[in-house]
Amino acid sequence: TGNTTLDVGFVNTASCQSAITYIDGDAGILRYRGYPIDQLAKESTFLEVSYLLIYGELPTQQQLEEFTARVSRHTMLQEDLKDLLAAFPRDAHPMSVLSAAVSALGTFYPDALSITDEEQIDQSSVRLMAKLPTIAAYAHKKSQGQPTLYPDNRLDLVSNFLRMTFGVPAEEYDVDPVVSKALDQLFILHADHEQNCSTSTVRLVGSGHANLFASISAGIHALSGPLHGGANSAVLAMLDEIDGSDDDVDTFMKRVKNKEAGVKLMGFGHRVYKNYDPRAAIVKETAHEVLQKMGVNDPQLDIAMRLEEIALKDDYFVERKLYPNVDFYTGLIYKAMGFPTDMFTVLFAIGRLPGWIAQWREMMNDPATKIGRPRQVYIGETERAYVGMNQR
Ligand code: CMC
Repeated sequence: TGNTTLDVGFVNTASCQSAITYIDGDAGILRYRGYPIDQLAKESTFLEVSYLLIYGELPTQQQLEEFTARVSRHTMLQEDLKDLLAAFPRDAHPMSVLSAAVSALGTFYPDALSITDEEQIDQSSVRLMAKLPTIAAYAHKKSQGQPTLYPDNRLDLVSNFLRMTFGVPAEEYDVDPVVSKALDQLFILHADHEQNCSTSTVRLVGSGHANLFASISAGIHALSGPLHGGANSAVLAMLDEIDGSDDDVDTFMKRVKNKEAGVKLMGFGHRVYKNYDPRAAIVKETAHEVLQKMGVNDPQLDIAMRLEEIALKDDYFVERKLYPNVDFYTGLIYKAMGFPTDMFTVLFAIGRLPGWIAQWREMMNDPATKIGRPRQVYIGETERAYVGMNQR
């Protein structure tokens, strides 16, 4: 129809203009608001990066203190929301719980659903940043049959999350600073990635003028799939299936290269990066550091490194420019920290939240924004006359 071009998977179509994140996939470059990802990962903190993404500039000392204090103040959940969380079955996937709870947040703050009132939008942004880690921790507690802990706002956001996830009321819980620092860094690495599947979802839902909670709830569902954020869990499931012997690794690689149905080298390949994912390079380093500092000797790390080594030399992967992506090594770190596999994608969601918020707000403030409404190329029947039931 007209000048419609077919672009399955939006491989070549830009849906918006954005000033938030820059990626050069051939060179393996990623920058938030102009700042290289490796500098942010080394020097910054997750809350500072969140501020940068949402407001466009690094905060001054005072701005950061104010932002941190605001987020701290909102870490508790309404008790009624806790009842909702308690009603889910114990084996519920935490990504479903996370999305449902974010959707439900909208029902608790009906006055904050505006898409034009900047103050309300800012308040909703802060609430989301503060409450998502609490919701995530409670989803985990539910799966363990353990009581929940209230947040302790003397702790920073990440330490608070770790305590609510792994602590129990009966005992003191000392947050391991190595774990807290590493998780903070992983959140920075996940904080935005321009128009990926979940961010495009957040924008598309928001483009119909749905509120921030509704849009982000949809983004969480988009993230859950194994081709996207769910890949970090899928990598561990894949490693679980390989026993580590040379034969087993080779057999697995053969199945991947033969394109056996459903068999991919999970954590490899990317739509945009045709070079080493700069996030993966940092994560790989962190994986070694964290496991070593925690005294964890995980044979699955060796298997992962073997897979990478083989893949980087193998024609199949070289020709297709397939490199490890951010999800390849993260799961091993999360596992060493004590998270069960189905929490891995929840951690991705906590990290990606500021990016979703920043992108939604940028879109709402862009006068060029229109409702997202892709076209299609129709391949069905041409017109035909209705056939009565007794003639079919
Ligand atoms: N293992 C084996 N073959 C692969 C893989 C892989 N992981 N990824 C791509 N290929 C092949 C693919 O079969 C295709 O081969 P051919 O040209 O012969 O048809 C070629 O490489 C190009 O791949 P594509 O599927 O057309 O590329 P895409 O841009 O549509 O998909 C992707 C990108 C990330 C979905 C894909 O690489 C993939 O499924 N990877 C595994 C899942 C994964 O790790 N996802 C996390 C992505 S990074 C973080 C995030 O977004 O959450």
